[in-house]
Amino acid sequence: MKIAMVGTGYVGLVSGVCFSDFGHEVVCIDKDPRKIEMLMRGEVPIYEPGLEAVMARNVAAGGLSFSGDLAAAVAGADAVFIAVGTPTRRGDGHADLSYVMAAAEEIANALTGYCVIVTKSTVPVGTNRQVAEVVSKANPSAEFDVASNPEFLREGAAIDDFMRPDRVVVGVESERARAVMADIYRPLFLREFPIVYTDLESAEMIKYAANAFLAAKITFINEMAMLCEKVGADIKAVSKGMGLDGRIGNKFLHAGPGYGGSCFPKDTNALARIGQDHASPCAITETVIEVNDRVKRRMVDKLVDLCGGSVNGKTVAVLGVTFKPNTDDMREAPALTIVPALVGGGAKVRVIDPQGRREGEHLLPGVDWVEDPYAAATGADALVILTEWNEFRALDLAQLAQSMATPRLADLRNIYPPEDVRQAGFEAYVAVGRRGFGLGS
Ligand SMILES: NC(=O)c1ccc[n+]([C@@H]2O[C@H](COP(=O)([O-])OP(=O)(O)OC[C@H]3O[C@@H](n4cnc5c(N)ncnc54)[C@H](O)[C@@H]3O)[C@@H](O)[C@H]2O)c1
Repeated sequence: MKIAMVGTGYVGLVSGVCFSDFGHEVVCIDKDPRKIEMLMRGEVPIYEPGLEAVMARNVAAGGLSFSGDLAAAVAGADAVFIAVGTPTRRGDGHADLSYVMAAAEEIANALTGYCVIVTKSTVPVGTNRQVAEVVSKANPSAEFDVASNPEFLREGAAIDDFMRPDRVVVGVESERARAVMADIYRPLFLREFPIVYTDLESAEMIKYAANAFLAAKITFINEMAMLCEKVGADIKAVSKGMGLDGRIGNKFLHAGPGYGGSCFPKDTNALARIGQDHASPCAITETVIEVNDRVKRRMVDKLVDLCGGSVNGKTVAVLGVTFKPNTDDMREAPALTIVPALVGGGAKVRVIDPQGRREGEHLLPGVDWVEDPYAAATGADALVILTEWNEFRALDLAQLAQSMATPRLADLRNIYPPEDVRQAGFEAYVAVGRRGFGLGS
């Protein structure tokens, strides 16, 4: 199949690269010329483990190319995927569809024959029909179908998720479009990965419902963590005991500083708006959004407590600022709430992140970037583990404690057992959903 991928961000680039690896002929397009120039040089603009190698292999094999020329890529394509951003619209929580509709119009004007226009971006119910209207209006003689094909990949494990998905969801309304989508996903079908064919509205709903459910699961355990701290229980034990129940499952049951990232915050907001717009409020999702905000803000209180009531004049070392490990994505990361609050409270903040610096430098003004966790801790009054990169999982706690001005640790990912922290010489410790020690000192 000949495929054009419009939008070469986390989703478009991974999807385009993987489709070419399936054997399709793929052109990835972006309106950002710097991105296209980098890709043409063989450089990957984002950090995603394994992506560079699969990309290089397929460029070398001739099945993958990059271009800023949408019209040339769309002409003669069997399918054009829209994988542009759908951020939260300023002010009202709705998904901003302006990029999707602009892309649809451009595609309409470039069509040369029958083509399936596939929306891979996460979009509210009804968007695919709107895309069809935009295309028909811009090019009344265009021969096309629309299809909804939401993406479920996780940053940091994107290649594997795309190549070995739990399921592929395809919303289509014509046999012709279904046949094109079936050809595109044939390699996965042959390996018996489930492909769910449904109508457009259901496909659009599946994506939002799935993300809101996962956000709710994380938020549930974070709320339980707050209660555990009050009643003296340990959330790690509680999660384990809950997760072993097959109906619950152990994934997304790790307490932490609140969810962030490019999807959950905007998708929960958009779903809440969709519910309100249809007079069918999604009360659970609305509460999840509210509790998650509270969870993030509570982390700041924890750090203030750890520092004896004020961070003013204190040196705080923060390990990890990306919203999760193995990505350079900073969108809606808890760090964007926590670090500015520390800086605003008068703390001197040192930050280290294996991949977050490029993005984080302009998002976190007033901090010092360092390269090594031990250097970050030297002379510091508090150490905060905010993102659980592997690099931070096996630190020499005793060495860290010894080098600090006051050895205090906030382990906001519950990596280190409290006893190990105490034995290493830390005088104060807070975590999430488990008892701390040495507070108020
Ligand atoms: N990031 C994820 O993990 C993830 C996972 C599943 C679904 N999604 C969804 O996929 C969509 C894309 O997300 P992302 O994180 O890849 O976004 P992104 O911001 O990383 O990338 C979007 C790209 O589209 C380009 N673009 C915008 N308009 C264009 C146009 N008219 N022509 C060509 N290029 C254009 C931008 O320059 C940008 O490079 C969103 O709807 C998101 O919700 C994201």
